[in-house]
Amino acid sequence: MSFAIKYLTIIVLIISCLLAVHSDSQNQISDAYINEALEDTYKKFKDLKAGNNADYIPVLAEVDSNIFGVAIVTVDGQVYTVGDIESEVSIQSIAKVFTMAYVMEESGLQAIIDNVGVDATGDVFNSIIAIEKYQGQYMNPFVNPGAIATTSMVKGKSADDIYHKVAAFYDAFAGRTLTLQDDVYISESATNQRNQALASLMFAYGRIKEDPARATDIYTKLGSIGVNTLDLATMAATLANGGVNPITAKKVMRHENIAGVLAVMATAGMYDDAGQWLFKTGLPAKSGVGGGILAVSPGKFGIASISPPLDEAGNSVKGQLAIEAVSNSLNGNPYDVVPINMK
Ligand code: DON
Repeated sequence: MSFAIKYLTIIVLIISCLLAVHSDSQNQISDAYINEALEDTYKKFKDLKAGNNADYIPVLAEVDSNIFGVAIVTVDGQVYTVGDIESEVSIQSIAKVFTMAYVMEESGLQAIIDNVGVDATGDVFNSIIAIEKYQGQYMNPFVNPGAIATTSMVKGKSADDIYHKVAAFYDAFAGRTLTLQDDVYISESATNQRNQALASLMFAYGRIKEDPARATDIYTKLGSIGVNTLDLATMAATLANGGVNPITAKKVMRHENIAGVLAVMATAGMYDDAGQWLFKTGLPAKSGVGGGILAVSPGKFGIASISPPLDEAGNSVKGQLAIEAVSNSLNGNPYDVVPINMK
């Protein structure tokens, strides 16, 4: 090769490297942009007065309705927050995601499909009619009967042993030791007759094989664990990152089980409004009646919000608005694909 050709080749290589770096940095969203998206959203919805705290669990009615925070944790461990990210609420139904994941890790995904199902019921989360319609099967781990049945599938020597094993699994997702909110556990235990009825019916249909009262109690206790907004975002980010917590760098679950968990979050995570939510955001998500919502942008970030007032479907009003606004401005929707020649 002549000297001139060698020289030209080196120049072409340098230019293409520079162009690659430039286009990569164009695809990256800057810290300032993410913080601005969070701040704008927070300002826009902070004073919104809509919805009501859940009150069918009496202590939830007393939780401060003004708690409002939003957090993002990216798959490379960057953390962005706005508002109150320290106040804790009970995790409630968001726990169902991680109990499902636990059982998949312990017994395989087929065990969930066979015993509980992975289909949306189209009925409210504590529907007795849904059990009757499907004879306790063909439901999913996020409606109460499916969730209590899923809890009953966890192996362990005693109720305490099962609770502690699953709670430790939640801790690994959050990257810290979470604490039980005793007042919530006591309040819900005193008023969960409907869940006891659901569990007994599931027992009658052979979907719960252990003592249904014990399964209901463990389920109630797991839902009473306290979380803040940052915990929820970290838990979501661990799912977004294929099962490795991006803050602690610990492998929490096998990546082979993530897609199944996200699929049920997408179809049933926001209950009766799952379709509308997916239409607007494209994000697998899960809400809890404590006011938390977490959502997953696979391969990108976990995002979460806490704000206790709920809408009719049982989802946080401000949480939904905030996550939708922030995620969409960060191109979080995995279905929003740009044609390759327009990039
Ligand atoms: O079983 C219950 O009623 C509560 N522990 C959980 C319900 C819940 O969070 C439903 N979510 N939106």
